[in-house]
Amino acid sequence: MEIRKVGVLGCGLMGSGIAQVCAQAGYETVVREIDQKFIDKGFGVIEKNLSRAVEKGRMSSEEKESTWSRLKGTLSLEDLKDCDLIIEAVVEDLKVKNELFSQLDKLCPERTIFASNTSSLTIMAMAASTQRQDRFCGLHFFNPVPVMKLVEVVKTIATSQDTIDTCFDFCRKIGKIPILAKDNSGFIVNLLLVPYLLDAIRALEQGVASIEDIDNGMKLGCNHPMGPLTLLDFVGLDTTYNIANIMFEEYREKRYAPPPLLRKMVLAGYYGRKSGKGFYDYTGEKPVPMDLGL
Ligand code: CAA
Ligand code: NAD
Repeated sequence: MEIRKVGVLGCGLMGSGIAQVCAQAGYETVVREIDQKFIDKGFGVIEKNLSRAVEKGRMSSEEKESTWSRLKGTLSLEDLKDCDLIIEAVVEDLKVKNELFSQLDKLCPERTIFASNTSSLTIMAMAASTQRQDRFCGLHFFNPVPVMKLVEVVKTIATSQDTIDTCFDFCRKIGKIPILAKDNSGFIVNLLLVPYLLDAIRALEQGVASIEDIDNGMKLGCNHPMGPLTLLDFVGLDTTYNIANIMFEEYREKRYAPPPLLRKMVLAGYYGRKSGKGFYDYTGEKPVPMDLGL
C-alpha cells in the first residue's frame, strides 16, 4: 500500500519531530493538537530546525518552503480522516490514546494504518480499542526525532505482514532505520534503557555521587553522548514517570519501579528541559545542577 498523507496526533517533543521528518520526506502531513498554543510551540521548534538546516547548507530555501507547504496544524480530528497512516504521539496515558483511536476508527477508511509512538504501553492494548487490529502497529521513534536514526516497528499478534512491510518502507523513505520488535512493554530499547535511567536516580537518592559526577561518569567513562540525568531531563520526567509506572505494572519487577525522588520531582512540576527545571535548572544561560536537598 502507498502512503501519501500522514496524520500525527500531538505536537509535543515527539509529535513535532515526527511531523517534521514526514513533511521533509515529501508526505502531506497534518498534526492534531488540543490547543493552538501547542501547535505554535511545536511548529516554532520545526522552524528553528529547518532554518538551521538551510544555514548549514543541508537544505535549500526552496526545500524548506515546500516542507512548510506540506505541513498543516489542526484542532479537528476530522482533518485526519483521509490519511493513509496516523502516528499517535500524545501523552503516555492509555485512556487518552484509546479515546483518540476509537474516534478515528470511525472516521477513517479501512485502508488507514494506525501506529503508536508509545514508549511503554503494549500496542495490543490500543489496537483492541479499534476494529482494525491487523492495520495497527507500533512506530517507536527516538528523541530528538530529526537526529535519531532508529524506529522500532512493533508487530502485535494481530498485525498483518502487509502493514509491517508498508511501515518498514515508510521508515526508510523518511530516512530512518527500522528494526522489528515484538509487542512487549518497552520493546527492545526501553526494556534496557529505562532500568538504567531509574538506577541513576536511585544512585543519586542513595548519595552515591552528585548529579554532575553521575552524568560525567557515564559520559566520560562509557562515551555516552549524555549522562543519564541529563537524558532524563531531555526525555521529560513526567513522561519517564508514566513509563516507569506502566512498565512496573506490566512486569512487577523492582527495576522498573519509579523511585520516590522521581515522583516528588514530577509533583513539584520539575519535568526537565520542557518546564525549565529537572535535575538541572535551564532558566539561566547554561544548565546548573539543581539543589534537590539530598
Ligand atoms: N532537535 C533537532 N536537532 C537537534 C536537537 C533537537 N532537539 N538537538 C541537537 N540537534 C542537532 C544539532 O542541531 C546538531 O546539528 P548540526 O549538525 O546542525 O550541528 C546535532 O544535532 C548535534 O547537536 P549538538 O552538537 O548540539 O550536540 P550533541 O553532539 O551532543 O548531540 C544529541 C545532541 C543528538 C541530542 C546527543 O546529545 C544525543 O544523542 N543524546 C542522546 C539522545 C538519546 O539517547 N535519545 C534517546 C532517548 S530515549 C527515547 O527517545 C525513547 C523513549 O521512548 C523515551
Ligand atoms: P509531550 O508532553 O512533549 O507532548 C505530548 C503532546 O500531546 C502535548 O503537546 C499534548 O498537548 C498533546 N495531547 C494530549 N492529548 C491530546 C489529544 N487528545 N490530541 C492531540 N494531542 C494531545 O510528550 P512527548 O515526549 O512528545 O511524548 C509523546 C509520546 O511519545 C508518549 O507516548 C511518549 O511515551 C512517547 N515517546 C517519548 C519520547 C521522549 O523522549 N520524550 C521518546 C519516544 C517516545
